Amino acid sequence: MKRCARVIGSGGYLPETIRTNEDISKLVDTSDSWIFERTGIKTRRIAGENETAASMAEIAARQAIEMAGIEAGEIDLIIVATGSPDRVYPSTGCILQHRLEIQQCVAFDVQAACSGSIFAMSIADQYIKSGAADKVLIIGSEICSRLVDWTDRSTCILFGDGAGAVLLESTDKPGILSTHIHSDGGFEDLLYCPNPQVATASAKDEKGVITMKGNEVFKVAVNTLGRIVDETLATNNLDKSDIDWLVPHQANTRIIAATARKLKMSMDQVILTLENQGNTSSASVLLAFNEAIRDGRIKRGQIVLLEAFGAGFTWGSALIKY
Ligand code: UT7
Repeated sequence: MKRCARVIGSGGYLPETIRTNEDISKLVDTSDSWIFERTGIKTRRIAGENETAASMAEIAARQAIEMAGIEAGEIDLIIVATGSPDRVYPSTGCILQHRLEIQQCVAFDVQAACSGSIFAMSIADQYIKSGAADKVLIIGSEICSRLVDWTDRSTCILFGDGAGAVLLESTDKPGILSTHIHSDGGFEDLLYCPNPQVATASAKDEKGVITMKGNEVFKVAVNTLGRIVDETLATNNLDKSDIDWLVPHQANTRIIAATARKLKMSMDQVILTLENQGNTSSASVLLAFNEAIRDGRIKRGQIVLLEAFGAGFTWGSALIKY
C-alpha cells in the first residue's frame, strides 16, 4: 500500500505585544500609508523578553497535538524551521523535544530562511513516504524582531514574531501530493543576516541584523514563485482551477497577488495574515495554514497550495489534499 503524509493537526502562536505602523514611524522616517500601500502590513507581533523560538514552538506544537488527538510520545520526528534559534546548539528541535517531554524521537532544525516550513514539510514527507517515520511534527518559529535593525526603515517595517505547527501522519489515502524545494546560493548578498560572533576578521564589525535589497528580492520572488506554481501543477497533472486555496509566505501583498493572478485565483481564495502579522519568516505559511484550518475555510478534501520564497535564495511549494 502506498504511504502518504496526511495533516492531522495544526497550531499557531502569536506573542501578545502588537507593534503598529504608527509605533514604527516614531522610530524611523516612515508612515502607516507608505508601509500599508507597499507591503500590506498594518501591525505585527513582538515576542516578550522571556519568549524564545522554542517557547513559542511549544505552544503551537501542543495545539497541533491536541487537535490530532495523539500523545506527544507518539511523535517519531520533530523538524523545526527557524532562523532565530534559541542557541547555536542544541537545536531548537531538541529543546522543543525536551519541553514536550518526549524521550525517544529524532529532532533537528532546518535553516532555509522564509522557505523553512516548506523545506521541513518536504523532509517530513520523504520520511513518511519511505516508512522511516509515522508521525512527524513540523514547526516554523521565529523571533525576527531580535534580528531586525530598528533604525533601518527598509527592513524593520516588514517583520514579526510567531510560531506555526503541523502534525503529519502516515496514511494510505491522499495527503501531501507533492513537495518541491530549490536553492540558489548565488543570491546571498541580496538578503542575509550575519553571525558576527563566528565571522572572519574582516566581517566581525557587521551587525547581526537582517540586510536586504528589497526591490531586487521582490523581482526574483515574483518570477520564481510563478515558476514553482507551474512545476507543482505539471507534476500533479492538475489545472490552475483545481486549486481551492493558496497559502503563501507572507512577505508582501503585491508578491502574493502576482502569484494569485498567475493561478487565475481570486484573492478570496488566498489565505492572508500579513496585515496583522507582518513577515514571520519560516512561521508565516504554517500560521496562515493553521488559521484557515481552524476557522473552517480549508475543508477536508480540498486542494491547498503552500509556497514560500526566502534568503539563499530558497523557494518551494507543497500541494496538499487536505
Ligand atoms: O521574506 C523573504 C523575502 N522578502 C521579500 O520578498 C521582500 C521583498 N521586497 C519587498 O517587499 C519590497 O521591496 C519592500 C516592501 C521591501 C520595499 O518596497 P519597494 O516598493 O520595493 O520600495 P523600494 O525599496 O524600491 O524603495 C522606494 C522608495 C525609496 O526612496 P527613493 O529612492 O525612491 O527616494 C526608499 O528609500 O521608498 C523609500 N523607502 C521608504 N519610504 C518610507 C524605503 N523604505 C521606506 C519606508 N518608509 N519604510
